[in-house]
Amino acid sequence: MASRIASLSLRATATSTTATLKNKLLARNQFAVYRMASTSALGLKDASLLRTQGYIDGKWVDAQGGGKIKVFNPATEEELGTVPEMGLAETKQAIETASQAFKTWSKTTPKHRHDLLMKFYALMQEHQDDLARIITLENGKPLVEAKGENAYAASFLEWFAEEAVRTYGEVIPSPFPHIRNVVVKQPIGVVFSSILTPWNFPSAMITRKLGAALAAGCTAVIKPPPETPFSALALVELANRAGIPSGVINVVTTQANVHEVGREMCENPLVKKVTFTGSTPVAKALYMMAASTLKKVSIEAGGNAPFIVFDDADIDAAVEGAIACKFRQSGQTCVCANRFYVQDSVYADFASRLAEKVAAFKVGNGLDGDTTHGPLIHQKALAKIQRHVDDALARGAQLVMGGSRVPGKGSFFQPTVLSEVPPDALVHTEETFGPLAALTRFETEEQVIALANNTSVGLAGYFYTRDVGKVWRVAEALEVGMVGTNTGLISQAVIPFGGVKESGLGREGSHGIEEYMNVKFIAFGGL
Ligand code: SIN
Repeated sequence: MASRIASLSLRATATSTTATLKNKLLARNQFAVYRMASTSALGLKDASLLRTQGYIDGKWVDAQGGGKIKVFNPATEEELGTVPEMGLAETKQAIETASQAFKTWSKTTPKHRHDLLMKFYALMQEHQDDLARIITLENGKPLVEAKGENAYAASFLEWFAEEAVRTYGEVIPSPFPHIRNVVVKQPIGVVFSSILTPWNFPSAMITRKLGAALAAGCTAVIKPPPETPFSALALVELANRAGIPSGVINVVTTQANVHEVGREMCENPLVKKVTFTGSTPVAKALYMMAASTLKKVSIEAGGNAPFIVFDDADIDAAVEGAIACKFRQSGQTCVCANRFYVQDSVYADFASRLAEKVAAFKVGNGLDGDTTHGPLIHQKALAKIQRHVDDALARGAQLVMGGSRVPGKGSFFQPTVLSEVPPDALVHTEETFGPLAALTRFETEEQVIALANNTSVGLAGYFYTRDVGKVWRVAEALEVGMVGTNTGLISQAVIPFGGVKESGLGREGSHGIEEYMNVKFIAFGGL
C-alpha cells in the first residue's frame, strides 16, 4: 500500500537574495498528511523480499539476546519494522561461517561465479519495483531516484560478473635463463571481506563491494546500517535465490553493539579485508583497528567537493549540473558539490538561474509521484545542515531561499541556497550532507584552485568551462580522486571510484576487483 504521509510543495518564483523570500516560500508550503495504510510487507508485490532477520550460514536468524532495532521511515517517522540487535557472538559466528565457506567458494571457477552474479543481476532487475520501494521507505529518496539506485546497484553485479572472468595474471621475462616468472591472482587471504556500508545508497553501496568480493572468490560478512537494513536483507534474499551457496554471504545487523561488532570485524585474524564507506572519523577508527592484523583496507570516506563555474561556461548546463550534483538524494552523497565557486562576471546570473530551479522542487514523501526531493535520513542530519546555514549567515552570507527545516513530521529540510558565503564558513570545511548550495565568488583561476584544494579531503571535484586548455589545467590541479568537467554526475560502475587525501584508500568499481585479490608470484626454476 502506498504510504502518503507528507506531500510538501515548495514553489517560488522569486530569485531575490533577501530573507523575505524564505517567508514567502514557507507560506506557500502545502502540507498534507495521510496515515500509512500499513501492511506487514510494506506493500511489496513479493512479500518475501521483506526480511527482518540477520543471515548466517544460509539461515535467517534472530539475535541471541532477542534484542531488536526499530527501523523508521524518515518521511513519516513511522516504524517500518525491526531487525535483530546482534552482537559479538553472532559476529564471530558469521566470520567463522564465512571462513568455512571460503574454502569451497574460492575454488569455484570464475565462470561459475560470473553465471551466479548474472542471475543475481537479473533478479535485481526483475524485482526493481519492490527493491526501489524498500529503498524509498527506509531512506526517503523519491521512487524515481530509488529505481535509479537499483539500476546503479545492479550494474555493479553485471560489471563484476564480467570482471570475474578477466582476472588475468602475467608472465614476466626473467633475466636468468633457467627461470620463468609467473604472476597469478587469488582471492584475498583465506577468508573473506567484512563490509560496512552506509545508509545513503542502501543497495548500491552493498553491491559495489559485494559484487567485487564474490567475483574475486571471497566470502563476506555485511554489516548494513541500522537506518536501512531492509535493502541489504532483500539483496541477500535474491542472492540466495540466484544460487549463491550458504555461508558465502552473511549479514549481522546491529546498532547499540556497533563498536564491538566493528572491532571484531577489523581485528579478527580470520578476516583478511575490511571495506568501508562512510565518514572520515569512523574510517580512521576502523583503519587503526584493522592495522592490528595488517588487513587490506579500502575506504571511501567523506568529501567536500568544489563545483566551479568559470565565466566562459555554458551557464544553463552548469545550472543543470549543479542541480543534479548538489541535490541528488537531497544532498546526501559523498560526491555531491559542497562548495560552489562562481566567477565574478557570471555570479549573479548563475545564482538567480539556480535559485529559480531550486524553487520548483517539490519536497515530500518519496512515494508520492510528484515528489522531487525527499527527507534527510534523521534528526541529526537536520541539525547539521541547520548549523551550517546558521554559521554561514552569522559570517555574513545571504539567504536566497530555504534555510530551515520544514515544520511537521518527517526530517525534511527546505532546499537552500546561500550566496556570498565566506571561505571561512563551516560549510567550506565540513561536508554538509544536505540540500544546501553555498555560493562563493572568485576572480581568477589561480585563486579558485587554491580555494578548492584548501581542505583535508579530496573525493570529487567539478567545473564548467568551454576552454579546453583550462579543462586540462584545472582537472590536473584539483586534489581529488574524481573530476567532472562539464558534468555534475560522474557515478558509474565502470569508473575507479575513490578519493585522495582523507577521502579514502583504494578504488571501487572499475578494476576494484583487484582490491579483493592477492597477487602471487611463482618462479619456475630448474629449467
Ligand atoms: C556515496 O555517496 O558514497 C556514493 C555516491 C555514488 O556512488 O554516486
